[in-house]
Amino acid sequence: MRVLANDISAHIEKEIELLGWVAVRRDHGKLIFIDLRDRSGVAQVVFLPSDKSLHAAASELRSEWVVMIKGKAGKRPAGMENKEIGSGEFEVAASELKVISKSETPPFDLESGGTDIGEEIRMKYRYLDLRRPRMQNNLRMRSRAIKFIRDFFTSRDFTEIETPYISKSTPEGARDYLVPSRVYPGKFYALPQSPQQYKQLLMVGGMERYFQIARCFRDEDTRGDRQPEFTQLDLEMSFTSQEEILEFIEELYIKLVKELYPKKHITQTPFPRISYGQAMEKYGSDKPDLRKDKNNPNELAFAFIVDFPAFEWKETERRWDAVHHPFTQPIVENTDDFRKKFDKNPAEILARQYDLALNGFEIAGGSIRIHDPELLSAVFEVMGNKPEEIKKQFGHLLEAFKFGVPPHGGIASGLDRAIAILQNEPNIREVIAFPKTGDGRDLMMDSPSDVSPEQLKELGIKKVEDKT
Ligand code: AMO
Repeated sequence: MRVLANDISAHIEKEIELLGWVAVRRDHGKLIFIDLRDRSGVAQVVFLPSDKSLHAAASELRSEWVVMIKGKAGKRPAGMENKEIGSGEFEVAASELKVISKSETPPFDLESGGTDIGEEIRMKYRYLDLRRPRMQNNLRMRSRAIKFIRDFFTSRDFTEIETPYISKSTPEGARDYLVPSRVYPGKFYALPQSPQQYKQLLMVGGMERYFQIARCFRDEDTRGDRQPEFTQLDLEMSFTSQEEILEFIEELYIKLVKELYPKKHITQTPFPRISYGQAMEKYGSDKPDLRKDKNNPNELAFAFIVDFPAFEWKETERRWDAVHHPFTQPIVENTDDFRKKFDKNPAEILARQYDLALNGFEIAGGSIRIHDPELLSAVFEVMGNKPEEIKKQFGHLLEAFKFGVPPHGGIASGLDRAIAILQNEPNIREVIAFPKTGDGRDLMMDSPSDVSPEQLKELGIKKVEDKT
């Protein structure tokens, strides 16, 4: 029966079978040692010189070969223990070896943290990079965090609902990834920048408490904390308040840290709440880093930023734009009051909008939404949309809001960012299995890539010759 490397201590003096990768082979003349790596960790295997053919076969082993080893588990001789690894007091004396598959010499070392290896090569061979213990740990902790989040919300009467990925353009401030339609040549779907409109429509649909671990797609320049596709914990509630939403998110992160990161401490609970104005004045940032000791890797300084302005002037487009998104409720009494306040000074109107900052990064953002279709139309209008455009782009939402819309609000938390910080990673690429490089490429799959002329033809798309 297969035993995992980390469990050999439970099988002392028994014949066991190990399956995994050769991490290292150490040839000590008479004795050959290998560290065998599997999903649980590594185990030391020793090949004694008494079995000549087995010993000879072991001397052929190379790093990253996949092997099956049978042998007897036992304690290592006194003084030979390795405290660094889980199975460090034990080893397996091999009696049988089978090479399942061989490996070429890997292009880089897999035992180190890997942070000093060039990104291009790590990304090209990502499947090898993922074998290093740090990456294994990052992905396993990510999975545990997501499970924790699912349990947290489902036990509080939230329903997890999937919304479409092939969708329609949603304004979240970035460019859309467009998907051409074959059936309707010249027409395009868009990959959602977030499930924003769908989750609001789910509130019209009576779901009341929705959440989703949702992929979002934004065609924007990639940075350390930004990927063209990333994952949000997205949630929305009906008959709610800003207070209730912030309390849910606060409780979630406090409990998640306690359960999965017990060594970490949160600088201040309840999380401090700072108005946008104060944050800008005092820290010059709407995501201030409030850690008391920035050299302490176990400190987590959460802070809610509230009372954002609703609109900001976009000089390039010469128009007022929503600071969060146009669905966010400005703090006004009604549409008339909104128009009055907007005419007076758009910059003075505040919004029911909030962000969560963690150690200087924005890890969540959300708002109470406008549920009055008249006010929503007025907001679209002051942002420079013509009535026909409003109808074309947002007609479905305005229409839905005619049929008994509950007041609602929500938030979305960037899980890649949150998990990167919890894992002490400087970059969200370290907690994503297959991220894009800094310049938006997938070097392993070689994407983006050309497609065949037939595919383009079928989609009714013609490439424009670049004459520059
Ligand atoms: P927002 O655009 O603020 O809000 O996004 C929410 C959170 O998602 C994370 N995030 C990103 N993470 C990685 N790469 C990116 N390119 C990226 N862009 C954003 C951030 C951010 O705080 N629909 C609204 C939410 C709502 O109103 O409920 C939205 O998407 O951590």
